[in-house]
Amino acid sequence: MAILVTGGAGYIGSVVSEALLEDGQEVIALDNLSHGYPDAVPAGARLERGDVGDAGRLDEIFRQYAIDGVIHMAAFIEVGESVREPTKYLENNFARPLTLLEAMRRHKVRDFVLSSTAAVYGLPDATPIAESAPTRPINPYGSSKLMLETALAWQARSQGLRYAALRYFNAAGATAASGERHVPESHLIPLVLETAAGERPQLAIFGDDYDTPDGTCIRDYIHVRDLAEAHLIALRRLRDAPDAAESTAREAGAPQLATRAYNLGNGRGFSVREVIDAAERVCGKKIPVRLAPRRPGDPARLVAASDKMLAAGWRPRHTDLEEIIASAWRWKRQHAPAAKSQVSS
Ligand code: UD1
Repeated sequence: MAILVTGGAGYIGSVVSEALLEDGQEVIALDNLSHGYPDAVPAGARLERGDVGDAGRLDEIFRQYAIDGVIHMAAFIEVGESVREPTKYLENNFARPLTLLEAMRRHKVRDFVLSSTAAVYGLPDATPIAESAPTRPINPYGSSKLMLETALAWQARSQGLRYAALRYFNAAGATAASGERHVPESHLIPLVLETAAGERPQLAIFGDDYDTPDGTCIRDYIHVRDLAEAHLIALRRLRDAPDAAESTAREAGAPQLATRAYNLGNGRGFSVREVIDAAERVCGKKIPVRLAPRRPGDPARLVAASDKMLAAGWRPRHTDLEEIIASAWRWKRQHAPAAKSQVSS
């Protein structure tokens, strides 16, 4: 019995692998290492180099290990790049995983957990956002994830796939072993910490004229380990309690697809300025900032209603913003030389 974690050498994939191992599960991390790091894969997990779009490689892996579930996290994640290169994102985040779904069908593996995103909602009409809110992505990154969610829903209906799509809000923080090191780095908290560490002269605040109390964008930051716990719950539910809504809909011949999406956030939003203030308290340093134009495609406010996952027993434990930032800061100071990203601001 093993779980295949695609993107297992990435930031969230390595933390999910850690959580699975602690839960006593065998972990096979599949990663093409285009953005992941072999040393991020926790000891105890097996790293297999390969791509989710490589059918032959997948057949080898499914034959080699007794895989009974897949957590699919391998994806490109840069919203701005996705706008410049849409087909790159649709190909990598939507088309290639279809090969993985077909391999799962061939090898009779039925349980699939997808890393999805709040970007599927686009510009929400209201917050907090529930899973029933309209999905209207405003960039190819969000579209690519939503298209894969749709493919999963059809595969569930016609092939008996059991899946959950976990729509992350803003993953942040670190465990003792695993933290964020994207190259190039584009995420707020690591950039703030690089500035605090003197690796960047200033942090650019992308717009302070949004319709929010201090004018900067509000996001729902969720600790990466809490995200990981939700994956364990999602897997357990697929095994023990396959989605009743979809089975009922299928049996009744209902044309609509039942949604199996779960939002993952703390339900509390923090502005860019609040994040900077919290980081200054954590690091004990003044963080130099400069005002920059709005970043295209940034909604003013994204805050999750995660009631569905809470009802499934999920209890986020690291909800305090300073605690989240402090965990990232600790990790950065311990792993700084390996964790440098390109400096551009
Ligand atoms: C985005 C996606 C999210 C996706 C994630 C993938 C949207 C709306 N959100 O999160 O779905 O899963 O990327 O990695 O598409 N900021 C600054 N200065 C900086 C960097 C960021 O002011 O130097 C601001 C941004 O404008 C934003 C906030 O900080 O308001 C958070 O930005 P970031 O960390 O990049 O995450 P999102 O864009 O929210």
